[in-house]
Order: sequence, then C-alpha cells, then structure tokens
Amino acid sequence: MKLPEELQFIENARLPQKNTLARMDGKLCVLTGATSGVGYHAARRLAQGGASLVLVCRNVYKAAQVQAELQHTFGRQVDVLQADFSQLDEVRSAAASLLASYSHIDVLINNAGLHNTHRTLTKEGFETVFCVNHLASFLLTRLLLDRMIASAPSRILQVNSQGHRFGGLDLTDLNWKRRRYRGLQGYGASKVAQLLTVWELAERLRGTGVTINAMHPGEVRTNIGMNNGPLYRFYKRYLIGWMLKDPVISGEAIYYLVAAPEMAEVSGRFFNLTINEKPAAFALDRELGKRVWMISEQATRLA
Ligand SMILES: NC(=O)c1ccc[n+]([C@@H]2O[C@H](COP(=O)([O-])OP(=O)(O)OC[C@H]3O[C@@H](n4cnc5c(N)ncnc54)[C@H](OP(=O)(O)O)[C@@H]3O)[C@@H](O)[C@H]2O)c1
Repeated sequence: MKLPEELQFIENARLPQKNTLARMDGKLCVLTGATSGVGYHAARRLAQGGASLVLVCRNVYKAAQVQAELQHTFGRQVDVLQADFSQLDEVRSAAASLLASYSHIDVLINNAGLHNTHRTLTKEGFETVFCVNHLASFLLTRLLLDRMIASAPSRILQVNSQGHRFGGLDLTDLNWKRRRYRGLQGYGASKVAQLLTVWELAERLRGTGVTINAMHPGEVRTNIGMNNGPLYRFYKRYLIGWMLKDPVISGEAIYYLVAAPEMAEVSGRFFNLTINEKPAAFALDRELGKRVWMISEQATRLA
C-alpha cells in the first residue's frame, strides 16, 4: 500500500541512499556546528574526501579537538572560528573573518542547531531556537553570498529537519509571547522559516552557479536536546535512543549533496538524507516565504 504524499517521508527513510566517490581536493568548505553529531561526521567525511575546512563553532575547546583529530587522521587544512549563533554579532564577526581570510569559498554547510523544551530568549530578544536554527544561518549565508557567487560553481546546504512538519511558525508571534511554548513547534517554526528562505534564495541565485538545498540528516544519535532537563534526557537516552541511527549516515549524505557531480546544478530542493522529497505543504507557501524573507532581513539588520 502506497502512503499518502504527506507521509511519503516515512517510506523514503527506508530507501537505499546514494553516495559518491567524487573527491573534494582543493575545495574549501565552511561548516557550522562541527563539534558534535551530524556536523562532526560531516567534517570527517569532507576531510576524508580531500576538502579543506573552516569549522565555525561556539566551543573552541571542543572545536580544537576536532581540528587536531582531522588534521592528524586526514592531513587536511582545518581552521576554526568561534561564534555563538545565539548572538548575531558573533555571526557577523565570523562572516567578516571568513571574508578577510578566504578569497574562495566552495561550500557552505549551515548545520549548527538546537532543540529547547522551554522558551528562552537571546540577549537581543529573539526566541533562541529561532535565532540559532534560522536567523543565524540566514545571516551567515547572506553575508557570504557575494563571495560564494564569485567562487561559483559553489554550493550551500542547510541542514534542516523533518521536524519542520511540526509547524509552529506564526509570523505575528515569533517570540512565543502569546502562545505557550512547545519545544517541537518552536523547533518546527525555525526549520519551516529556514526552508521558506531556501526556495527564495534558490530563485534569486538562478544563473549565478551557486546552488542552495536543504536536507534532513536522518533520525540519528547525537547530542541534540541534551541541554534540556533530566526528564527529556531520560526520554531521549532510554526511550528513543535505541531507534536512532549512527550519524555517520548523515555525514555520508551531506558529502553526497555537496560533492556529487550529479548534484552540481540541483537547487531549491529538500532531501531526506539523499532522497529528493516534498516538504510539508505549509513549508512550500511562497507568499509566506516572501514575508519570512523580509522579517528575517529586518531581524538580522540586512534590510
Ligand atoms: N539528530 C537528529 O536526529 C537530527 C534530525 C533532524 C535534524 N537535525 C539537525 O542536525 C543539525 C545538527 O544537530 P545534531 O543532531 O548533530 O545535534 P548536536 O549533536 O547537538 O550538534 C549540534 C551542533 O550545533 C552546535 N550549536 C548548538 N547551539 C549553538 C549555538 N548557539 N551557536 C553555535 N553552535 C551551536 C553545537 O555546538 P556545541 O558542541 O558547542 O553544543 C553542535 O556543534 C541541527 O541543525 C539539527 O536540527 C538533527
């Protein structure tokens, strides 16, 4: 029996994944959130494939350990930049350092992300998950865009989530002042906003040689959510932990999406690991996307 279109993602998760033998020697990849989970495995796979890396991470101590490991194991150039994505000024500083230090950027992977069960606000007053998962990746991408266009062909990948299907995006209440905060919906809102800007950006980048896609990295065993309380940590570790897969599959899928020659001109798509998939209908609403674009520009002071 074939599942209805909106549940197709369940079936897609069982399909065989694609991979590539293509090498990335001489390519410079900027990757956020490489200190753990999906990002760590993507960094390993990229270094194994020959890429040079710049890891943009909030915890320099953890990042230095990953840097040393990758340099030792794969002998690649691995640089580290510090930025906490809950502070947009730090994203601006990281972008400025990247532009000052690297004349060429071939790949940008926005992976850093989190899931909170409780509402918290950043210093600037944004709901933290929305800021880290969406606003920071939007800002970093926009600030690096001219350099990516000058470096074309180049690729941008947003590590998104099936969690976008939880919805939760209300442009009149982005900071959850009127609504009771629910972790899954707060997370969903950030991922829907990010997806909507991917379609916008793909259209604006048409003809530039820069592609932008989004992906779900699988249901994998990482540290996401482990910043929450003991009840959530127990739930994650003991109740759902056994169902989660090894994040090595996420690294392999990310590598495929940014390295495979057959992906060179594919843009404006959502992938379930490496399977092209239709996101939830509300995440395809282009009118909403234009409003999200405007609001994101205002929030990040790009407007
Ligand atoms: N795991 C899954 O099943 C799953 C499913 C769907 C989507 N995803 C997505 O995959 C991405 C990676 O998550 P993960 O599962 O690998 O979780 P993870 O193990 O917790 O890794 C998250 C990464 O993001 C970084 N990060 C978190 N908050 C940050 C901040 N304020 N500023 C800068 N960096 C920050 C973390 O840094 P620290 O090491 O300093 O904490 C870490 O490097 C996220 O975008 C997530 O939404 C994961």
